[in-house]
Amino acid sequence: MRFVNALKQRGKDVLEPWPLAKALGYVAHDAWWGLRLRAGWIEQGGVTVHGTLEVEQSVDVVELILDDYRRAAGCERFTGRVAEIGPGDSAGVALLMRHLGAAAVDLIDRFHSRRDPEQQAAIYQALSRKYGLEALRTKATWDEDGIDGVEWRVGRSAEAFFADCATRRGRIYDLVVSRHVMEHLYDPLTGLRDMLRCTKPGGRVAHQVGFHDHGMFTPRHHALTFLEIPEVLYRHMTANSGRPNRVLTHWFRRCLDDLVAAGAIDYTLDVTHLVDVGRLGRAQAWEEIDPALREQALAFVDRHRAAFAPEFAGVPSRDIAITGIAFVATVH
Ligand SMILES: C[S@@+](CC[C@H](N)C(=O)[O-])C[C@H]1O[C@@H](n2cnc3c(N)ncnc32)[C@H](O)[C@@H]1O
Repeated sequence: MRFVNALKQRGKDVLEPWPLAKALGYVAHDAWWGLRLRAGWIEQGGVTVHGTLEVEQSVDVVELILDDYRRAAGCERFTGRVAEIGPGDSAGVALLMRHLGAAAVDLIDRFHSRRDPEQQAAIYQALSRKYGLEALRTKATWDEDGIDGVEWRVGRSAEAFFADCATRRGRIYDLVVSRHVMEHLYDPLTGLRDMLRCTKPGGRVAHQVGFHDHGMFTPRHHALTFLEIPEVLYRHMTANSGRPNRVLTHWFRRCLDDLVAAGAIDYTLDVTHLVDVGRLGRAQAWEEIDPALREQALAFVDRHRAAFAPEFAGVPSRDIAITGIAFVATVH
């Protein structure tokens, strides 16, 4: 395996100067992922959320993600059934959601992120010591499969999971949340519509989405290089591997506006990141952002716009300048 990884890295290094050549390398890698998935091989290596963290740092991360979800849900505590999409390598957030009132938490993930069971047990143990969670432990020792009311549903994409849920189970969720996941869905808009069809009236669907290239071409090339790859090629780079999908703000807004027009939802959408600027101090509406930062991001887009693939030629600079959003939809 180490040899294969070394070979992969060597290939990447050789192709690094030429984005289009690198894109072809990603097409080959994505086809390999297609074969893997068909064979049921869903283990995903690479960077995990807790990988190299100390237990105390992991507890901080779990609390930070939980706070994000609480802010999105607009509540201190949770109720009913919650779905967290793409939890990565830990059920820590789900454990705290159960502690804070959720009756059940489903963890939906297309891949099985590589994890260290001992590290995870230590994280659950530390959370339990801090919050008094022993009543939620169903096994002799802490284990991700031994948390009362928390269920892993790994190995199916969120798109497939919610399409099936909408057809067969209907509106069973009070809250559906994710963070840094929607950009990895192959078809996030159909997925989003199905998530809303699985959410009870008054329930919420809240996602934080990043529009970055996840190191495909950066840092050697600029942050918008991935928008230069023609769609016909790009789709074959991403279908199986979970690479970012390039469904940018305007597509989410259009999808959500259609649902508002149909009387299905209300929503708010805030900006969290701008290109060439990075993370904003807080999530805010475009109009509220410091004009100097908006100008900086827009100038960056305009500097690179000429090289974009035809699919992005007509997209307003504002929607390309936005590289992170947080939106919350409330179901009618
Ligand atoms: C960048 S990690 C985010 C982890 C965590 N939510 C966080 O905020 O740190 C992306 C997660 O989404 C999952 N994922 C990717 N594509 C998916 C899909 N189509 N359906 C469900 N989960 C997916 C990955 O396996 C991984 O767990």
